[in-house]
Amino acid sequence: MTDSSAISWPEAGPVPPSMRAVTFSEFGGPEVLTLGEVETPEPQAGEVLVRVAAVAVGRTLDLAARAGLEPFASAVTLPHILGAEHAGTVAAVGEGVTGLALGDHVATFPVYNAFEDEYTRSGHSEVSPGVRMIGTHRPGAYAQYVAVPASNVRIVPADVDPAEAVAVILAGAVAMNQFVRVGGIHEGSRVVVPGATSALGSTTALLAKHLGATVVVTSRDEAKRARLRELGFEHVLSTHDEDFADQVRTAFGGLGAQLIVDNLGLEETWRRCFDALAPGGTVVTSGAFLGLEVPINVRRLYLLSQRVVGVRTGNLASVDLAWAELSAGFRAQIDRTFPLEDAAHAHRYVASSENVGRVILTIG
Ligand SMILES: NC(=O)c1ccc[n+]([C@@H]2O[C@H](COP(=O)([O-])OP(=O)(O)OC[C@H]3O[C@@H](n4cnc5c(N)ncnc54)[C@H](OP(=O)(O)O)[C@@H]3O)[C@@H](O)[C@H]2O)c1
Repeated sequence: MTDSSAISWPEAGPVPPSMRAVTFSEFGGPEVLTLGEVETPEPQAGEVLVRVAAVAVGRTLDLAARAGLEPFASAVTLPHILGAEHAGTVAAVGEGVTGLALGDHVATFPVYNAFEDEYTRSGHSEVSPGVRMIGTHRPGAYAQYVAVPASNVRIVPADVDPAEAVAVILAGAVAMNQFVRVGGIHEGSRVVVPGATSALGSTTALLAKHLGATVVVTSRDEAKRARLRELGFEHVLSTHDEDFADQVRTAFGGLGAQLIVDNLGLEETWRRCFDALAPGGTVVTSGAFLGLEVPINVRRLYLLSQRVVGVRTGNLASVDLAWAELSAGFRAQIDRTFPLEDAAHAHRYVASSENVGRVILTIG
């Protein structure tokens, strides 16, 4: 474990023919992750080579893929290098790339598209059947270098370090897409984020607060609730409380929630949150790692004109919205960093659910 303030941007070059990377050749537990030497990738036309400084460790994209869970197992080619959202320095530029140069400090949004269709053309590329992920469908950034589509790369503002950029480029884009799909967050919007200790949940909750919302956050665990209070949240609750919906309305001055962002899929949490939803309110979900089916009272749904909205992930437009907030001073919560060689330890740590915020690997 290291202090994220110690992370600096690497120099651009020269690019060596081989590089250090964490790979795995079979699906399994964290022990399948192996540090070794592999060939350095070359950027193709339209790509850049990033010398990686920091890369996220995600519960779904990394732990589930390493374990061989679907849909990742079918998408991954072994041996594989994990690593979705990352930040680093441009070390080489492929043919036809404009607007990026050697030495630029960048972060990479990991969602790209294999082909154009009606969804990519209408600005909802994340809904397309051609949606793909860096670190799943192509080698990722648990490595010194990664080749990525230049269209997914964003220049990092000068006062932002690599870990701070990593913490926003995907989670910030998902949160922004969720907000856009419900008409945006405004000063005084009433928002509930269950599981706000998670990498995505903490970003969503902090971003909603940054945009002026009144935010209720939850955790199962008192020690983690204390950490949420330290992050500046005034209304920190537990969905295990039977009077949770009343507590939410008290926090909102007697009114229900206008937006609930639930990425967990847990039946009890869902039911208690829905009880706190105002007439005309919306529940948005971009994840369901704790369960697939939840109850919905259809009569109440139509009588109160409420909505349930799925948002698969972010897109390039929502990256730009998140990037504008990063430039305006927004920072997501980083729980801790591990050096690349401790990738297996980092996976065990994320599996333990002790984190409050994003867990990150650093490449020295
Ligand atoms: N669509 C996308 O692009 C995208 C991107 C990132 C994440 N996600 C989704 O977002 C969700 C969170 O992922 P993450 O990587 O941010 O998670 P994470 O950092 O690993 O955090 C896990 C969260 O789950 C909660 N939790 C764990 N076990 C629980 C249990 N038994 N009962 C209740 N709560 C429990 C924890 O809350 P406590 O504080 O209560 O322990 C914590 O908030 C997942 O469903 C993931 O697939 C989606």
